[in-house]
Amino acid sequence: MDVISLVRKRLSETYALHAKCINPQFVRVLEVIGFNRNYESGKGAWLVDARGERVLDFLAGFGVFNIGRNHPLVVRVLHEMLDSDPPNMVQMDAGCIAGLLAEALVSIAPGDLESVFFTNSGAEGVEGALKFARQATGRRGIVYCERAFHGLTLGALSVNGNHEFRDRNEPLLPHCTPVPFNDLEALERVLRGRDVAAFIVEPLQGKGVFTPGDDYFPEVRRLCDRYGTCLIADEVQTGLGRTGRMFAVDHWGVAPDILVISKALSGGLVPVGAILAKRWVHCRVFDSMDRCFAHSNTFGQNDLAMAAGLATLHVLESEDLVHRAAEMGDYLLTHLRKMAERYELIREVRGKGLMIGIQFGEPRSLKLKTGWKLLHSMNEDIFCQMITMPLMEKHNILTQVAGHGLDTVKILPPLVIERAEADIFLAAMDIVLAEAHRFPGAAWTTTKNLALRTARSA
Ligand SMILES: Cc1ncc(COP(=O)(O)O)c(C=O)c1O
Repeated sequence: MDVISLVRKRLSETYALHAKCINPQFVRVLEVIGFNRNYESGKGAWLVDARGERVLDFLAGFGVFNIGRNHPLVVRVLHEMLDSDPPNMVQMDAGCIAGLLAEALVSIAPGDLESVFFTNSGAEGVEGALKFARQATGRRGIVYCERAFHGLTLGALSVNGNHEFRDRNEPLLPHCTPVPFNDLEALERVLRGRDVAAFIVEPLQGKGVFTPGDDYFPEVRRLCDRYGTCLIADEVQTGLGRTGRMFAVDHWGVAPDILVISKALSGGLVPVGAILAKRWVHCRVFDSMDRCFAHSNTFGQNDLAMAAGLATLHVLESEDLVHRAAEMGDYLLTHLRKMAERYELIREVRGKGLMIGIQFGEPRSLKLKTGWKLLHSMNEDIFCQMITMPLMEKHNILTQVAGHGLDTVKILPPLVIERAEADIFLAAMDIVLAEAHRFPGAAWTTTKNLALRTARSA
């Protein structure tokens, strides 16, 4: 079997195959927004499609490719692993590479997170973290934030703050209570009953890229201590350098009781995740020999994932990527904020490091205001396509919309981007924004037509 030749031969059938066997609705979306490219390869911050066009990846696989695509060191380590006939997943043994990766994670973790449980994904990490907190505290309640995203399995969905995902899945887990993000009074009100096992929170919310005030997390820590609640930091997206610190909670010097990571640990090559917990939490879950499998999985510690994780941590450190994320993030934030002074459609530019949200809002000038209102009356979610579609079609830059009904475009580039790549994005953004500020104009017409097509297809 020659899988590379097979893929080359059938690359042009990709979307038909997906429409037939995987997700036809998603294929329709990709087609109408013009994202239906056939990619052939990827390296660093760039993808190459079948027409030979280079696409700048400011999405990074939803935060998977912190070290860039197909990093040579991770690729080499994986080749070496495969060539060594590893004694993988014996299961009734303790694998050496898992021990080494756990040791490496503990050494960079905030506070005294000393125990590691490996998972296959972010949602699996969240599920485990919720179980750990319940078992450790003997309580049932879970508090989560409005707009939170922690994955889409049933437990993780029970702490999801977006009705778009929750709808049609009720009833979800009982005893889960939402509070507004960045609202300490609301949090204290629900913790006061001393029946809450965990407060689970993303340090920066992925949906919309909402950032907390600087006093929020230190005070959250104090409240959790006061009321005996475990603080779970979901760093599945923010972890491993994304926000300009190794972990986003490091911005505020806060150590959670449980921390969940995944995405970037994979090096973009082998799915992996980890739940890092304080010793006392771990000891209450795994509290006897009988309960050594109180929580477990099959693939969590597989050698390829562990090797990818070790190599990824090595790259993050040897290439100083956390520092780079802080520096490039400041550069992009500064220039985007300057742009916001010239473009009235931008309401706010926010974020930390290379996790940035550009929020749009109703403009002041009469003509643009008319366009804004018209478009929003047709479809609450569509405005941002006026930015992401031309970025892709005319400038070969891949970006994403930051969530439902938020009018926010999100950029999440690999941490390896250079000044030149940031400048390519900024120049393209400037042109796209200038076009969006012409009403009536082609950008508005295209987006209005998209809204009409979407309405017809419902
Ligand atoms: C903060 C956060 N938690 C959990 C998840 C779920 O991770 P996965 O898709 O690997 O299950 C995501 C995914 O985007 C996430 O951003």
